[in-house]
Amino acid sequence: MAPPGDTPAPPSRTIPFADPASKTRVLLIASGKGGVGKSSVTVNLGVALAAAGHRTAVVDADVWGFSVPRMLGIEQLPEMAGERIVPPEAHGVRCISMGFFAEEDQAVIWRGPMLHKALEQFLTDVTWDDPDFLLVDLPPGTGDISISLAQFLPRSEVYVVTTPQPAAQRVAQRAAFMAQKVNLSVRGVVENMSWFTGDDGKRYELFGAGGGRELADRLGVPLIGQVPLIPALREGADRGLPIAAQAPDSEAGRAFSAMAAHLLDNPPPRRIHRPELKIS
Ligand SMILES: Nc1ncnc2c1ncn2[C@@H]1O[C@H](COP(=O)(O)OP(=O)(O)OP(=O)(O)O)[C@@H](O)[C@H]1O
Ligand SMILES: [Mg+2]
Repeated sequence: MAPPGDTPAPPSRTIPFADPASKTRVLLIASGKGGVGKSSVTVNLGVALAAAGHRTAVVDADVWGFSVPRMLGIEQLPEMAGERIVPPEAHGVRCISMGFFAEEDQAVIWRGPMLHKALEQFLTDVTWDDPDFLLVDLPPGTGDISISLAQFLPRSEVYVVTTPQPAAQRVAQRAAFMAQKVNLSVRGVVENMSWFTGDDGKRYELFGAGGGRELADRLGVPLIGQVPLIPALREGADRGLPIAAQAPDSEAGRAFSAMAAHLLDNPPPRRIHRPELKIS
């Protein structure tokens, strides 16, 4: 299959999620900082939303550092139905990723316009079928990909992931500045690697404490969850068995189901949609 970006899509295609009438909630999982757990949060939150009975899909927008297929344990490639790509599904979550179109050991070199086109194809040429939630795993930082996505998905809610360290949270917040610049609303902060619970039952704050709360307060949004540091979470990600699927009642599993419940209890503010005012 040709990688997306090689062949231009016909101009008539539209992004269903950009339509004001779309019922899909689009959640951009972002951080100015790398390695804080964006992909882990995206995958496990997606699994928790699916387990709660919601139709859920994930776009892995980390074109160079794709990790979602491995974390979800998806080995089969997407199928084609005519011109359209049918996303594979695991643990109740459908997913598309550059990982399906590039070899693991092959450097993916994309120039800006190709990148933009590839992301557009992920959104237009895939049979998404109106999911309740579309989670987008962003690459670290605030580069071209994030800006393209903000243009493609103007109705997105942004959730910023940070670790508890004050220094990490200052870098993480750049994603919030980027969101504000492109007129997306930041709707929450997730703190990851918050503590490690020892065999003695004590919580050890290996990366300090308070970064998530501080960032949430500064942005004026809720801290929607704190995820503990758990070796099984990393092992699960490496084996394609997300902790939210494998051990939903574990400390981390419960953190993800509580975050899913928060999202359900806090829909985005309603936008007034009056089709008769649509300019065509
Ligand atoms: N709460 C946690 N407990 C244990 N391991 C974790 C936890 N969160 C993330 N990890 C591990 O830390 C590593 C980085 O996590 P992840 O890939 O989710 O971060 P990321 O922010 O998406 O990174 P990148 O910026 O490279 O995309 C992974 O190996 C993951 O399994
Ligand atoms: Mg990642």
